[in-house]
Amino acid sequence: MRRLVAETHVRPGQLILPVFVREQATEPVPITSMPGVVQHTRDSLRRAAVEAAELGLGGIMLFGVPLAKDATGSGALDPAGILNVAIADVVAEVGDAFPVMSDLCLDEFTDHGHCGVLDESGQIDNDATLEIYAQMALAHAAAGVDLVGPSGMMDGQVGVIRRALDAAGHAQVGILAYSAKYASSFYGPFREAVDSSLQGDRRTYQQDGGNAREGVREALLDVAEGADIVMVKPALAYLDVITAVRAAVPVPVAAYNISGEYAMVEAAAANGWIDREAAIIETLTSIRRAGADVILTYWAAEAARLL
Ligand code: PBG
Repeated sequence: MRRLVAETHVRPGQLILPVFVREQATEPVPITSMPGVVQHTRDSLRRAAVEAAELGLGGIMLFGVPLAKDATGSGALDPAGILNVAIADVVAEVGDAFPVMSDLCLDEFTDHGHCGVLDESGQIDNDATLEIYAQMALAHAAAGVDLVGPSGMMDGQVGVIRRALDAAGHAQVGILAYSAKYASSFYGPFREAVDSSLQGDRRTYQQDGGNAREGVREALLDVAEGADIVMVKPALAYLDVITAVRAAVPVPVAAYNISGEYAMVEAAAANGWIDREAAIIETLTSIRRAGADVILTYWAAEAARLL
């Protein structure tokens, strides 16, 4: 009877698996604060992508962990850079099964750890960063990506990337925009996952956690600039923002069930304090109930099996 009248369903095809791939890794490197998640080698990434496809997931989102970083994040543009080669690997392996997506941001590639480049005074240079994002989008497109995921929260990033892709003949590459992305303490484990060198925080470009209307405004701006899917991130502390954005935009809404949300459940479950599998499904159900059409979650493969 409960199944018959259920209002909310979670399906594997609605889940996107975020994965990390580490340059020159010879074996997968565990991420301490995210038990069960690893920095992949190129080979183990291919295997994870095949598994994700076989499980019927909705897609895979790639994050690169380069060995060398510099002030402008030049590894992001290098066709031989880890993220660009990993995109090509995954597209070759499972490109016909589901959309292959890429994180389009500089923070994994900069030595200061910020999502953009800095001006002489050490402030983020929004517009200089946009030029690099445009080139990065072309590098990902050349590698065969289906959807780029700009996550740096620079103003105007979606429009600049859309125009760059179109001008270079990549009209078929879509944009999954991190639109309402809040400066959050729950990103902590991700910083370990990508060996982040960030000092300080991202509060000059990520949003204030108290601002829901602003989150909707950011999403509407991204739709106007050409976003195909808009995202709210984090998910659990921002379920009301997901609901508000879902009501306001005509495109699919994604939510990112982020590293800290994963870590909290895993840590509590490891202590025997909560039922892990029930907590995973309840978490994903709550994000769907709030209005997310698709969910990025580190549990994607496992949840697909449970479902
Ligand atoms: C930035 C980026 C971050 C995450 C995804 N893309 C980190 C940040 O903004 O500090 C966080 C994802 C997570 O915590 O799971 N490239």
